[in-house]
Amino acid sequence: MTHPNPLPPVRRAWWRDAVVYQIYIRSFADGNGDGIGDIAGIRERLPYLRDLGVDALWITPWYVSPMADGGYDVADYRAIDPMFGTLDDADRLLADAHALGLRVLIDIVPNHTSDRHPWFQEALASPPGSAARARYHFLDGLGDHGDVPPNNWPSVFGGPAWGRVIEADGQPGQWYLHIFAPEQPDLNWDNPAVRAEFELILAFWLDRGVDGFRIDVAHAMIKAPGLPDLRPEHVTGEPLAPGGHPHWDQDEVHEIHRAWRRVLDRYPGERALIGEIGVDDPERLAAYLREDELQTAFNFAFMGAEWDAPELRSIIDATLDANAPVGAPATWVLSNHDATRQVTRLGRSFTGLRNRELDDLLTADLALGTRRARAAILLMLALPGSAYLYQGEELGLWEVEDLPESVLQDPIWRRSGHTIRGRDGCRVPIPWSGHASPFGFGPPATTPWLPQPASWRDFTVEAEMADPDSMLRLYRTALEVRRRLPGLRAAGHEWLPSPDGTLRFRRGDDLECAVNVSADALQLPVGRELLVSTHGDIRRLPRDAAAWYAAREDA
Ligand code: NOJ
Ligand code: CA
Repeated sequence: MTHPNPLPPVRRAWWRDAVVYQIYIRSFADGNGDGIGDIAGIRERLPYLRDLGVDALWITPWYVSPMADGGYDVADYRAIDPMFGTLDDADRLLADAHALGLRVLIDIVPNHTSDRHPWFQEALASPPGSAARARYHFLDGLGDHGDVPPNNWPSVFGGPAWGRVIEADGQPGQWYLHIFAPEQPDLNWDNPAVRAEFELILAFWLDRGVDGFRIDVAHAMIKAPGLPDLRPEHVTGEPLAPGGHPHWDQDEVHEIHRAWRRVLDRYPGERALIGEIGVDDPERLAAYLREDELQTAFNFAFMGAEWDAPELRSIIDATLDANAPVGAPATWVLSNHDATRQVTRLGRSFTGLRNRELDDLLTADLALGTRRARAAILLMLALPGSAYLYQGEELGLWEVEDLPESVLQDPIWRRSGHTIRGRDGCRVPIPWSGHASPFGFGPPATTPWLPQPASWRDFTVEAEMADPDSMLRLYRTALEVRRRLPGLRAAGHEWLPSPDGTLRFRRGDDLECAVNVSADALQLPVGRELLVSTHGDIRRLPRDAAAWYAAREDA
């Protein structure tokens, strides 16, 4: 099937095909040696990102936060947490990045605040029924003594989604909703004061020059009226009627995105919104990308795919088919700070976004995962649309699954009663140089907030730059070719015939991509210039290999 470019031939907005590099700020680079990454560290490393060849950065939450969930619990949306720096540092970072031609997206967390946010503190100090409580979801409990939560919703991080507060008389009183950790109370988006406040927060950052926002759980803000119980089909994963889940993907959430888009459109410079939207149905997902809503949304179906040619192909088709009618580009991603790193994921016989908890005893074949991750990135970067990279994937880092329990910080670990280790294994500070921790993450005496494996000495930026066959060099070459070839920017894609277990497609007049997922071998067409390959200069791709080559015969 062919997916023609639905757009007229005008200059395309940057976000349509940008490569965006995700910075998990705590773990990227530590400028002051306290073991925690910060804005100063990012500023020092901007030339690395420019040379890597990305177009933009997405920085995970840097706001004032007690860090109950790695900064996704925001206590002040207009200030930088002192552990990361100051507002002046943020301004300087924006200026430096822009001077290097890098755009900057920041994370915005609208579904919930921190329990330390002044609004929540005010709500706790105010009586039931007060305006302060109406900014959140406070309800009386059920049962004779009100000691049963108002409904049966579970928290994403384990346990019930309700916490009970102590009232002014010292007695247990109302309950408040927290879809995530108890330290992350859900805001009530039916309240106009909440909507107005977030539009001002967006403007605050747009005025400072950010190029857009990654919206945390952008499908969660609206709850069904009356907060009805989950029914069995919500839990078993049976297909639901559109808008059928009481707190995910409610239709009214689109109004919020339309309002936000109007705020962005007041600003020059193609500011953009990318949604983190956990909606499986490609058409429901595409609805967020209508012309007056978000420009892009992560495509998690691709990230969670098995390493299986028919599955990959059908996810690619479903994504492009669903996005075409709304004219939105696809957004491809292989990892982020919530998912098991792809070297580990693809080194197991099953995938899914997080897989450690499925079987503790099943070890990953990291060599296999590395080969597949190399092929997967060439597949991803050849697809039409924008692409997101997560810090460290360009070094081929794996999930650190043997972190000592004493250092685990993800609230999932505690909330699961110490049965699910959570996401710290993909958040270990990344190695830049040298032969021992901190590997240039911070000044020499730095103790990183999570310990780095000693074997990362061979996976530093420094070591990989010296090795022409490294993951880093593959990423740099692929990104350089992607920038150079206009066909990789503008054109649609066209599947070409290829044997079972393989994928082959063309992008415009410039390039073809071949991926051998599971066949014994895949022969590349003769007479074509090889542009990038996972396996050097060979024309017969083994299993778990990929190559880009010219779409036309050599002149
Ligand atoms: C999604 C974020 O990516 C994740 O890290 C966070 O825990 C939840 N949203 C809650 O904010
Ligand atoms: Ca620091």
